[in-house]
Amino acid sequence: MLLNLTILPGDGIGPEVTEQAVLVLQAVADAFEHETRLQRKHIGGAALAAVNDPLPPDTIKACLSSSAVLLGAVGSPAFDHYPNHLRPEAGLLRLRRELGAYANLRPAVLFPALEDCSPLRPEVVRGTDLMIVRELLGGLYFGEPRSISEAAPTDRVAINTMRYSESEIQRIARVGFDLAMRRRRKLLSVDKANVLECSRLWREVVARVGKEYPEVKLSHQYVDSAAMSLVQNPAEFDVVLTENMFGDILSDQAGGIVGSLGLLASASIGGPVGLYEPVHGSAPTIAGKSIANPLGAILSVALMMRHSFRLETEAECIERAVSSVLDRGWRTADLAPKGKATASTQQMGIEVVKAIRAHAGVRQTSAESMA
Ligand code: IPM
Ligand code: MG
Repeated sequence: MLLNLTILPGDGIGPEVTEQAVLVLQAVADAFEHETRLQRKHIGGAALAAVNDPLPPDTIKACLSSSAVLLGAVGSPAFDHYPNHLRPEAGLLRLRRELGAYANLRPAVLFPALEDCSPLRPEVVRGTDLMIVRELLGGLYFGEPRSISEAAPTDRVAINTMRYSESEIQRIARVGFDLAMRRRRKLLSVDKANVLECSRLWREVVARVGKEYPEVKLSHQYVDSAAMSLVQNPAEFDVVLTENMFGDILSDQAGGIVGSLGLLASASIGGPVGLYEPVHGSAPTIAGKSIANPLGAILSVALMMRHSFRLETEAECIERAVSSVLDRGWRTADLAPKGKATASTQQMGIEVVKAIRAHAGVRQTSAESMA
């Protein structure tokens, strides 16, 4: 298969982790005899520095002509004082919209080797394997009107709008239920229906879509209460369906629960081209030090194999490689106990590549012995 990709390294630790993810991608492509075609483009602060636009037309064009996009991270304190539309984050938000990527899948799985990395007790966190399905193109992130009004300069007023239509809720709900059908058939819809109209409509529409999936056990929970349950019983959760902002918050929390936000991958799908990125962001304070965890980016490549290319074996090969590297004790700084030796970003990438090669070697041998 031809894997025709646009690579957007972006800002902060984005380029470092993306580099390792691309090496892993190449290793999988070699092992399974796929051809890769990669174009690298700017986004975020890197694009602002180059052409004063966080999402240049050239980048959009490349993304729309690819079969999938791999992104590192966007965000840089250098642009904190810029107006909203000229911040690095605006580039990412526009890209999500251009790609029609309304469904953001954020799996949070506890790797058995990392039981001790969670701040929660092993018996609480053991077995955690949940999937946050975050609506990605609606709510406060995109709602209009939005502004900081200068009408009263000494007491300015800021406005954001949370907005959801029934059709927006319906399409993301279907993604959640379809995933639940392929998992443990439990779906928790998270909202704030005791306060917000958006959430009341959300709950109603999700319940209606749920009728089409009688095998899925649907429940509803307010976001504050869900945040508490998530740390109390993370292993109880299967699919968590929620709107944009709640999903942003709960997914970082899920990262903390499984040991490090650096492990979390994401897939943004629903449009013609899927976007794959680690959840962690640009982490400017550790950028350029070779200490960032590349596993979130690497696991995003696994999600790309699964969701954009339907290459399940390749996806599992990457996931198994990551698991075996962790089993063998490799840890980047975010996962290592204080004072313990740690692997650099590059070392971690190399170990995953080696594990993939070893796994693929076994695959070829068994194919030969079957012949
Ligand atoms: C994420 C990030 C982004 C978001 C930022 C960088 C715009 O926090 O992907 O979770 O809020 O969606
Ligand atoms: Mg976030």
